[in-house]
Amino acid sequence: YLVMEDGVIRGVYDRLPLEYATAPLVDYGQALVMQSFADMHLHAPQYPMLGMGMDLPLLEWLDTYTFPTEARFADTDYARRIYRRLATDLITNGTTRVCMFSSLHTDATWILMEELEQAGVTGYVGKVNMDRNGLPGILQETTEESVRETLRWLEGCHFDHVKPILTPRFTPSCTNELMMALGRLAQEKGLYVQSHLSENLGEIQWVKELHPDCQQYWETYAKYGLWTSRTVMAHCVWSDARERQAMRDAGVTAVHCADSNQNICSGVAPVRAMLNEGVKVALGSDIAGGDHLHMFDVVAASIRASKARRVLDNWETDFLTVPEGWYLATSAGAAYFAEQPGFAPGNHLHALVLADDDLPQPHPMTPQERLERAVYLRQGGAIRAVWSEGRKVFSAEG
Ligand code: GUN
Ligand code: FE
Repeated sequence: YLVMEDGVIRGVYDRLPLEYATAPLVDYGQALVMQSFADMHLHAPQYPMLGMGMDLPLLEWLDTYTFPTEARFADTDYARRIYRRLATDLITNGTTRVCMFSSLHTDATWILMEELEQAGVTGYVGKVNMDRNGLPGILQETTEESVRETLRWLEGCHFDHVKPILTPRFTPSCTNELMMALGRLAQEKGLYVQSHLSENLGEIQWVKELHPDCQQYWETYAKYGLWTSRTVMAHCVWSDARERQAMRDAGVTAVHCADSNQNICSGVAPVRAMLNEGVKVALGSDIAGGDHLHMFDVVAASIRASKARRVLDNWETDFLTVPEGWYLATSAGAAYFAEQPGFAPGNHLHALVLADDDLPQPHPMTPQERLERAVYLRQGGAIRAVWSEGRKVFSAEG
């Protein structure tokens, strides 16, 4: 029995405590009741290009496919249509928490936040800042415009479950003046920050040229006050021991994006090393560098990537186990939202209900085996219900 009161978990019990005997009860039979997912890095305006254009490395991929796709979100009707679909797809696939990039468009970003709120997705959404190396006149702001629009956007954010996060796209997209203004804003208002770090070797080289005073990529964020325990950094594929130490010392969360790292040939992130060293790690789909919105698939991809890493490391690092992968996709992301691991008492209820009774079984399966199976394989319509922040936001019965 999982007991919830006012959206908050009271406990998980073998036998229902007497004090709850008359409480309303939902019986999901033999289905698995599991934590729902936290997708800690994805790009909403790239959803239309999901599964397309992954034949170029990062910097060319951005210019050729990504920036033109994001430019379309100047059109608010288009934004409404795409973002409504994305919000629904997230919920029906069991993602109830996100840390998400919008585009640089203020109006479309509000629409995205509205649609997520409406569907029951919670978390952080950022209006992207980019005042250089975009597509001038098509997808790029002036420095002044970027700061002004960010302030206007922040003032218009009045959503219960979807909060703003500062989002300098990555160092090559933001002038020093803009980075300085965002760093000040983050400090003044205690805002959360998301960006990209050490994803691709060409990108890292470019950052070195842009900031000759910085020994490493992370210092280009630290220099402006954008490197704190409220910061999430996507990828960190090439972060060496020194950069990882800086993450650990500051309490920065690294978001591992295994699908994307493979799709655009960025590399294989050293996740095991990060975990061993005490760096906070969570998982992201990185739509649309990643091609799987479904976080079950992202868990499987992360485990596979860790096996590739093991081979590259001469079998000296261990791969991720299924429970570890599951933890990274759920509790590790939830920690960014100040929640305790698992269905801990005091957590807001974020859960999904998964049926697996229609799959052939080699023998009567333990719950652990059913979890493993679920990560790699689900039957059609497997997700029967989803709960977000204590609210039932999806039910297959309608
Ligand atoms: N670095 C800067 N922008 C992006 C983006 O949109 N996707 C990925 N994967 N990396 C980036
Ligand atoms: Fe990304």
